[in-house]
Amino acid sequence: MPNKIRVLMVCLGNICRSPTAEAMLRKKVREAGLDDRIEVDSAGTADYHVDSPPDRRAVAHGEKRGLAMKTLRGRQVERADFDRFDFVLAMDDDNLADLQRIRPAGSHAKVALLLTYAAGAGAREVPDPYYGGADGFETVLDLVELAADGFIAATRSN
Ligand code: 4NP
Repeated sequence: MPNKIRVLMVCLGNICRSPTAEAMLRKKVREAGLDDRIEVDSAGTADYHVDSPPDRRAVAHGEKRGLAMKTLRGRQVERADFDRFDFVLAMDDDNLADLQRIRPAGSHAKVALLLTYAAGAGAREVPDPYYGGADGFETVLDLVELAADGFIAATRSN
């Protein structure tokens, strides 16, 4: 059995996009029977919502697709995450730039945009839905679902 793969999903607040991406990848991992191979967590680059549950809109939209998010709690990315995780996956370019800035030199994790794994999604970033309407939360779900499928396919081919 190869080593466990640890994945950290990262957005700004850790209450909308990254907990949605975390729950989606976890669901896909379970469905693929890869629970013992892939572990998932999420964090925010900001500290605004430390210890908060995900945004209620993100929870409601996620539940419609079978995602369990209610018990998740916000936390901020920390330097140790870059050695604890194999993949640190950013939702947008601002998150990516912040991660590159705080990443300790020589740390282990591969830091990339999540949608690197969503070939054909036609998007580079997962747009922030916080100040928008319901559509934004559905778009987040569509994009993170494509990326979760892509990530699992990439893992299987390695
Ligand atoms: P997230 O969305 O980064 O997807 O969790 C946001 C949540 C909160 C804020 C901004 C974006 N905020 O400014 O509080």
